[in-house]
Parts: sequence; structure tokens; C-alpha cells
Amino acid sequence: MFLLRPPGVYRPQDDTDLLVEALAALPLAPGSRVLDVGTGTGALAVTAARIGAGEVTALDVSRRALSAAWLNARLRRVPVRVRRGEAPAAASRGPFELIVANPPYVPWPGAGRRVTRWDAGEDGRAVLDPLCETVPELLAWHGSFLLVQSGLSGVDATLAALRGRRLVTTVPVRRWVPFGPVLRRRREYLERRGLVRRDQREEELVVIRADRRERPE
Ligand SMILES: C[S@@+](CC[C@H](N)C(=O)[O-])C[C@H]1O[C@@H](n2cnc3c(N)ncnc32)[C@H](O)[C@@H]1O
Repeated sequence: MFLLRPPGVYRPQDDTDLLVEALAALPLAPGSRVLDVGTGTGALAVTAARIGAGEVTALDVSRRALSAAWLNARLRRVPVRVRRGEAPAAASRGPFELIVANPPYVPWPGAGRRVTRWDAGEDGRAVLDPLCETVPELLAWHGSFLLVQSGLSGVDATLAALRGRRLVTTVPVRRWVPFGPVLRRRREYLERRGLVRRDQREEELVVIRADRRERPE
């Protein structure tokens, strides 16, 4: 899908594609409310709207990303509303039948507290951990959360955090992909941390699905 992408906005890539694949395989009831956390160009929000979501909210901390998502949705004439902020900023538009997220997850301490498109602190969990805390509160009864992350940033920690919030987890898609330019630049650091082997040139991308089965209290 062609998407307008101003400089500084994440270029949809393997992780986006994997999540689109998982999203397309999900039964999405007509009229469902969908939230896309960290929308970037709006690739996932637009896909959700095209496959039948009723209301789509595209959330990002970057104003530039939100402008791109707004424009890409308008160009395709699909109803996507944009909102600036982190996941809790969408609470008034929920609860959601589906929440999707492709958050920053690359282990890299350089960013400090600055918001980035991909870097996410020493262990890659600077955005993942808060997401696992807040997203379950935003899910409708029988709602699903679809998240993509790298195998380098603690898949077990994500699964445990979501199970700890009483969600039922599965891994619908996982795939090894060649390192992109960001991981190639971070390779030495990742090797020093023991996260990749010396000869490793691929990372595993993992899509996690977490379903709410209980009525929220
Ligand atoms: C890896 S990009 C994904 C973009 C798009 N969803 C895709 O799959 O192509 C991550 C996006 O999350 C945004 N972001 C970073 N930290 C965030 C946070 N705490 N809450 C919401 N969005 C965040 C970034 O601005 C960026 O647009």
C-alpha cells in the first residue's frame, strides 16, 4: 500500500507487514472500535478501517506522524481519527474491540527519555512495559490486543506481563528477518550485551495476541 511519509516518520517495514498479516487473519466484527498505538504513517489504522472496523483511532506522540496518518486516511477515504499521546490518551474513545501496536522496541540506551521511532532504552522495553500495563484497561470484553516486537526485547516478559493482567496470550506469527539499517548500526552494542551472536545477521519478529475473556469489573 502506498503511503505518504514525511521525513522523520517511520517507514512501514517487516514488523508493520507482520502485524498487517495478523490483523487481516483476525475476525473483526463490523463496527468494531480499533485503536492503533504509535500509528506512524497510519498503515495499520488504514488497514483496520479497510477491513471493516467501525471507528479507528490512530494515536502517536509525534505530531508529524499524526499529520501523515490523517492525510493517508483521507486519501483513501477511510474514517480514522487521530489523537496525540500515549495509550491512556485514548481512554475516552474506548473500550476497544481491537488494539494494535508496533511500538519502539530496539534495545539501545542512547535515546534517554527522548521519544523515538524505534529505540526503546537499554532492554528495549521503555514503551513495551507501560503498554502492557495500560492496554488491558482499554480492551472491551472479548477484545484483542495485537503487538509486534523483536525477540531481542523480551518476548517472555511481554507474555508474562499480559497474562498477569488476566489476558489469554498466543503467538500467531513469528518470522526471522534480516537486520535492517537500525540493527546493523546497533549490532556491536547488541553483541556486547550478549543479545546477538557475533555472526548473527537476523532477528526474530514476534506477533503477540492477547485476548480479554473476562468482563472488566
Ligand atoms: C515502530 S513505529 C511504528 C509505526 C507504524 N505503526 C508502523 O507499523 O509502520 C513506532 C511509532 O510509535 C510512536 N511512539 C513512540 N513512543 C510512543 C508512545 N509512548 N506512545 C505512542 N506512540 C509512541 C513513534 O512516534 C512511531 O511513530
